[in-house]
Amino acid sequence: MSDADDLKRQVGEAAAALVENGMVVGIGTGSTANHVIDSLGERVRQGLDFVGIPTSRRSEERARALGIRIVGFDTHDRIDLTIDGADEIARGTLHLVKGLGGALLREKIVAAASRRMVVIADDSKLVDHLGSHVPVPVEVSGFGWESTARQLGGLGARVTPRQDRNGSLFVTDGGNMILDCAFAPIADPARLEAEIAAIVGVFESGLFVGRAALALVAGRDGVVRIEPE
Ligand code: 5RP
Repeated sequence: MSDADDLKRQVGEAAAALVENGMVVGIGTGSTANHVIDSLGERVRQGLDFVGIPTSRRSEERARALGIRIVGFDTHDRIDLTIDGADEIARGTLHLVKGLGGALLREKIVAAASRRMVVIADDSKLVDHLGSHVPVPVEVSGFGWESTARQLGGLGARVTPRQDRNGSLFVTDGGNMILDCAFAPIADPARLEAEIAAIVGVFESGLFVGRAALALVAGRDGVVRIEPE
């Protein structure tokens, strides 16, 4: 296991320890969230009883394979705790960029339905300003995406349609496209999130403003808890 993967494992296990019997848990997506799923699978084998709402098909498959009970919004209208990764975490506010893994729309629906969202990452993801290292992924309708892309460009983004490994346009679990929008470091994430959301053709952006109640961040000195200031 690489050092980076070991940090993800540490923080994944720390987050999985927050899950209690009877909870409805939002299950995140990505390499860090995979460690949460694996750790929760182990806890289920030891008798933990909870249900999960996954943020992607691949997290659902991984969770089911480990014996985690999966439910949906048809039967459950509240989520007690969501644990998910992030691509950038802003120090101080805990605003996030998410979606490099392609699951941002489901992730935001699950986060919005959650009483508490805990974000997990290694300390390379902490930034002073969102947009410093990664683009903001925006999930858009495939129909008319070129027009939507031009409007996102009008907000100052350099827009790149995401491709899959074969060079075809990437398709999300919801059958949509992702436009990766590189902004200079973002001065006002709340305003930008609202401006992006106002463009017709946009389903959601990967800006998660005011959603995380706690960050668990792994670094050389172990796992640190960070709350929004
Ligand atoms: C997927 C996400 C992931 O949480 C994010 O990309 C972080 O992934 P990883 O833990 O693999 O770095 O937002 O849409």
